[in-house]
Amino acid sequence: MSLSPRVIAFLLAGLISALTAVFLTFVEGVTRSMLFVVAISSLIVSFFLILYAIEILVYREVNKLYKTIHKLRIKDFTISRTTIIKNNNPFKKLNDEIFVYVARKQKEIEELRRLEQFRREFLADVSHELKTPIFAAQGFVHTLIDGAIDDEKVRDKFLAKAAKSLDGLDALVKDLVALSQLETGEVKMHFETVDIYQITLDVFEQLENTAHARQASLKIKSEQPGGILVKADPQRITQVLTNLIENAIKYGNNGGKVVVSFEEEKKQYIVQVRDNGPGIPPEHLNRIFERFYRVDKSRSKERGGTGLGLAIVKHILNAHKSKITVMSKPDKGTVFSFKLDKAD
Ligand SMILES: Nc1ncnc2c1ncn2[C@@H]1O[C@H](COP(=O)(O)OP(=O)(O)OP(=O)(O)O)[C@@H](O)[C@H]1O
Ligand SMILES: [Mg+2]
Repeated sequence: MSLSPRVIAFLLAGLISALTAVFLTFVEGVTRSMLFVVAISSLIVSFFLILYAIEILVYREVNKLYKTIHKLRIKDFTISRTTIIKNNNPFKKLNDEIFVYVARKQKEIEELRRLEQFRREFLADVSHELKTPIFAAQGFVHTLIDGAIDDEKVRDKFLAKAAKSLDGLDALVKDLVALSQLETGEVKMHFETVDIYQITLDVFEQLENTAHARQASLKIKSEQPGGILVKADPQRITQVLTNLIENAIKYGNNGGKVVVSFEEEKKQYIVQVRDNGPGIPPEHLNRIFERFYRVDKSRSKERGGTGLGLAIVKHILNAHKSKITVMSKPDKGTVFSFKLDKAD
């Protein structure tokens, strides 16, 4: 139980007045009424004196603490001095406040540390990803300069390889720029009524060769024949579908099935991209949306991935006030889903 300064003052004053009264009973000639007056007056006087002394002490200490807080320029320490002084137990209140404050600061420091670590890893990843195609192209060009240029067959092969590396570099830089623009909120979404059914068909057409190379079949499943009208940025939502469908083809099985489905809800459509590939192991599921994260580095690399696709998808959908979710079962396949608002 915490005692307020008043209760403490009253108890002490009671004790003093009782002691005085007891002491006076031993003095000859002291009447009952005199005892009563002495007891009451000593109770009142000591009560106020003690209360005054306690408050002066508390004020002094609280003031000292406040000066320290002021010196440390702790701006976000919100509690006011009067709130503390008026409290029954000012030191406990101050202690609690400081505890909350320190816990909050600790969390902020952890977050900053995490960001710093993230930044360091990101820098290392970017340099690593840039290094690979640059070194490859550099190697081919130097071999050509060193004489391979004279052999027509070798020349064409090496030039094609150098061009491929540089194309990869170009794609990587474009993805990085897109990602940083999305993260800083530099890209504004242009929402309009779009037919996501038609967009899916366009993406299928674009990815025809990729699908053909892996003998994958691409299908749409929808209860509603024809147009599915949603509110979205057509260019960005095309990018989302392209990456999800391309991933389903690339990381699915040879001869696999990719199905895009639309399910109607009251105010939204659920869009799902499903494959029947090898799936994503559960321990990787919540990391695949991180920049440069690839489940099987060697396999994804050989299929041309840099691990930026899903990070971009996540940002684009966030800008659509939506969220991407993934479900995957080993050897059964993977489903990526998100919701989009229906067009009015
Ligand atoms: N449908 C899928 N089935 C299995 N694994 C997948 C699937 N989709 C994504 N992944 C895994 O998640 C990783 C991250 O995918 P993401 O699209 O971000 O990068 P990427 O495809 O490797 O490169 P990018 O899209 O930048 O070309 C992939 O490397 C792959 O390992
Ligand atoms: Mg991808």
